Amino acid sequence: MKLQEVLNIKYPFIQGGMAHIATGEFAAAVSNAGGLGLIGTGGLSAHDLREQIEICKSKTDKPFGVNILLINPEVEEIVEITREYKVPVVTTGAGNPGKYIEKWKEINTKIFPVVSSKALAIRMERLGVDGIIAEGQEAGGHIGELTSMVLIPQIANALSIPVIAAGGIATGKQILAAEVLGAVGIQMGTCLLATDECPVHENYKDKIISARSSQVTVMGKISGMPNRVLKNKMVNEYIEKEKAGATMEELELLTLGSLRKAVFDGDVVNGTVMAGQVVEEVNEKMSLDDLFNKLYSEYLLEKKKLCVQ
Ligand SMILES: Cc1cc2nc3c(=O)[nH]c(=O)nc-3n(C[C@H](O)[C@H](O)[C@H](O)COP(=O)(O)O)c2cc1C
Repeated sequence: MKLQEVLNIKYPFIQGGMAHIATGEFAAAVSNAGGLGLIGTGGLSAHDLREQIEICKSKTDKPFGVNILLINPEVEEIVEITREYKVPVVTTGAGNPGKYIEKWKEINTKIFPVVSSKALAIRMERLGVDGIIAEGQEAGGHIGELTSMVLIPQIANALSIPVIAAGGIATGKQILAAEVLGAVGIQMGTCLLATDECPVHENYKDKIISARSSQVTVMGKISGMPNRVLKNKMVNEYIEKEKAGATMEELELLTLGSLRKAVFDGDVVNGTVMAGQVVEEVNEKMSLDDLFNKLYSEYLLEKKKLCVQ
């Protein structure tokens, strides 16, 4: 079954639940453009989530979802709010959502955990989730070990539920490649950052548009929380300190509130500018409508070319 039919959307595109970026308004804009918009709960209180769901529902009548960051201290309340609003779809990150699955199934919410290993994907399928988002380490933000090229076919071959590919996808060719690897759709983050509707500061968008893949790096490797970002003054200092054996407290001083600095204040020198390796493909600002249309047309064209050969 096509992802569009499973989720009742126009394109097989899911928007990643990006902390501080994936607001109710942005999620609604993505859903209105034909993808599945998600409200991100990273850094969100239960009270704020309720507000963001209300905003989202007031701006779209299309399906939308909530990305549940399982390490959010208010996760229990957040899960209850998704139940109260009968949110059509949840995706989950940073852990095992096992204990909440029955609660969502009771109200027919579709569940798509984001995973970076085959073992967790298999456990999730046994618990009855509706699909898996397999995220390779090319992705922006917090990442696992395996690349999309290796992870997606491993998971797709092991499971019989739909698999959605995430990490390193921002062109029609890459969407087709994900399909060849066994995915029925994609989740994207990086290529949405420069869209007109994305609520990040213009400095963040400009940085994304001008960045090369060689400017992307991973901070937090040694401390065990690898995070894919663009290099800047803060990141270079962080990595140097990490290598020199700095304590977690010293490192946290550098990153305290740093995503907000970049997203809201436009401080792309001292803030965390999360972005994936695919950033070099993002070269212009455009509307979500134009982006989705362009990506899907490119994908269809590439597929046609492949079939003709
Ligand atoms: C700026 C940014 C912030 C992100 N924050 C989160 C997050 O809070 N929770 C999450 O599950 N994934 C997060 N991600 C990952 C995305 O949801 C998505 O899976 C990923 O961006 C897909 O790979 P791509 O960056 O190559 O498109 C983030 C990604 C980016 C680029």
